[in-house]
Amino acid sequence: MLDINKIRADFPILSREVNGKPLVYLDNGASAQKPQVVIDAITTAYSHEYANVHRGLHYLSNLSTEKYEAVRGTIARFLGVADEDQIILNSGTTEGINMVAYGWAMPRMQAGDEIVLSVMEHHANIVPWHFLRERQGVNLKWVDTDATGALDPQKVIDAIGPKTKLVAITHLSNVLGTKVDVKTICDAAREKGVPVLVDGSQAAVHMPVNVDEIGCDFYAITGHKLYGPSGSGAIFVHKDRMAEMRPFIGGGDMIREVSKDAVSYNDPPMKFEAGTPGIVQTIGLGVALDYMMDVGMETIAAHEDDLSHYAQDKLNGLNWLTTQGTTPDKAAIFSFTMQGAAHAHDISTILDKKGVAVRAGQHCTGPLMEHLGVTATCRASFAMYNTRDEVDALIDALELAHDLFG
Ligand code: ALA
Repeated sequence: MLDINKIRADFPILSREVNGKPLVYLDNGASAQKPQVVIDAITTAYSHEYANVHRGLHYLSNLSTEKYEAVRGTIARFLGVADEDQIILNSGTTEGINMVAYGWAMPRMQAGDEIVLSVMEHHANIVPWHFLRERQGVNLKWVDTDATGALDPQKVIDAIGPKTKLVAITHLSNVLGTKVDVKTICDAAREKGVPVLVDGSQAAVHMPVNVDEIGCDFYAITGHKLYGPSGSGAIFVHKDRMAEMRPFIGGGDMIREVSKDAVSYNDPPMKFEAGTPGIVQTIGLGVALDYMMDVGMETIAAHEDDLSHYAQDKLNGLNWLTTQGTTPDKAAIFSFTMQGAAHAHDISTILDKKGVAVRAGQHCTGPLMEHLGVTATCRASFAMYNTRDEVDALIDALELAHDLFG
């Protein structure tokens, strides 16, 4: 069982007040807070261990390189990937998916080819594919969720046709909390010879992930949601896809030799990592993932599962609130609208006055908002350090908002 008092003590920001009230931080879907060990690792790296990586022969450069490169193995362990050379370090999911779009998909797709997507994708897993639609005439084929927010894997499999070149799908919706059975999709897609990209930005935060078992071709994660620094992240690329992929960004570190007339590239994964990377951010991400693995992903998932059921029951009791996404095993991410005139922004402003931080708006999911028939929602997204008391604080703040606007 998760030792919630210890966990909360590890995150210094959680003891601050906002607007004269104890902070209730429920905007973890946007970005998670950082434990002291991550903050300390960043300070230590800059104070005592900093130099550029992969370039110098001097002591600090070697030390920095060692610390930075060790994170590749940590990420592989965290994601259940046996071969760490299939991990490309980057600044986060947006960069990872754009790299796949430019480096792998663009040279392989022609007008009329199709990419299958779910309607609940984040813009990071939509806009790079729109580039291919605009520039190369690729068609985007959308699969809807049902009334509960569930995505039937069979509907995704059925959408794969002879022209489909890629399935790009989230593992866990940042708005609905819906988990997607990506393994079933990957098994069927492989039979049909179609690669699958999984956006793991949210899933990797809330549940154990084993990429080798899922059997996908690409799996993207982002560090700042994983209790690590912003500007850190990684993407798993299966070695067969890596062999097919051309470099997306050119520059130092990704080359073997450069002359006036020719260039040859470093071996993968470094072939796909140009320029000075986010050295300290990546080192911080490694510490964050070690922290999560020390707590235990099963333990985190069980704690958040309890919060999810508790919150779902409480929110269901507010008959003037419409909650989107009601699948029974959903993650603790709740998007809602208040019946009546109150806009999501107004509700979030009232919640903020009570110290409760949520996100309001479209959550970078335009097609999902259209599908749900709403212009915006309020979203409360939980993390390992949240408590049932904080669910109660959210409910109290919502009741206040309802008294004012309802
Ligand atoms: N992807 C982030 C969110 O869902 C920013 O809020």
